[in-house]
Amino acid sequence: MSALTRFNRRPIVGGNWKMNTTVHTGVDLAEGLTRHIGAVEDVDVVLFPPFPNLQAVSRVIEGSALRLGAQNVFWEQEGAFTGEVAAPMLTAVGCTWVIVGHSERRRLLGETSEVVNRKLHAALLGGLHAILAVGETREERHGGRTERVLQEQLHQSLADVAAHQLEAIVLAYEPVWAIGTGETATPEQARDAHAFVRSVLSVMYGEAAAADMRIQYGGSVTSANADVMLGEPGIDGALVGGGSLRADEFAAIVGSARAVVSLES
Ligand code: PGA
Repeated sequence: MSALTRFNRRPIVGGNWKMNTTVHTGVDLAEGLTRHIGAVEDVDVVLFPPFPNLQAVSRVIEGSALRLGAQNVFWEQEGAFTGEVAAPMLTAVGCTWVIVGHSERRRLLGETSEVVNRKLHAALLGGLHAILAVGETREERHGGRTERVLQEQLHQSLADVAAHQLEAIVLAYEPVWAIGTGETATPEQARDAHAFVRSVLSVMYGEAAAADMRIQYGGSVTSANADVMLGEPGIDGALVGGGSLRADEFAAIVGSARAVVSLES
């Protein structure tokens, strides 16, 4: 049995702004967030603005506890790749995080787990931390294929990732049917999926490494359900889309993560 408890896993809350902010609205949002939660130290809070907002948002949150991430990264570090953005470009504007494997990129942009794996390696090579998202579609869940899909995504996306690299990775379990739909997974569904993801990691990397791994839940997290979702022992934070676009709403979700920490300490 691992001696590690959940307390070893500091909750992490990400705000994925997707394609919803211009540099002006992004700066406004970042200013509001800096006021509300800029001093939060007991939970990791990472903002994921669109590329054209990164530099300006970086300036706004500088000196606060908020961290900056990008929503995507290319698999090469430089070169003739029109329209792509490389990890060193992201770190140069203050990013320390990136999301790979988000279902919108898998489904709408055709990213396979092999592509996700290349991006993950590029992110780590470039010195970024990565949130690796996995999750099943509604059809896959109804067809009884949730576990098989999660296992495949984990195996393929984490191919050739060594155990010592895991500390730079956070997993996000995001059931596709819950993203942007207002339909959250039930705490039981999330609990089961998180436990399954952790069991796959345990087989891949050993029990201690799996117990250390932070696994976020994502999919229609709001201030109304954050207490319940983040109160689940296997859920180590949230990846938030719609609920991250208003400073007070996102601050309330971060507040739910902080409540868990204070309960446990
Ligand atoms: P949502 O998005 O909170 O709007 O459902 C979550 C995500 O895509 O990470």
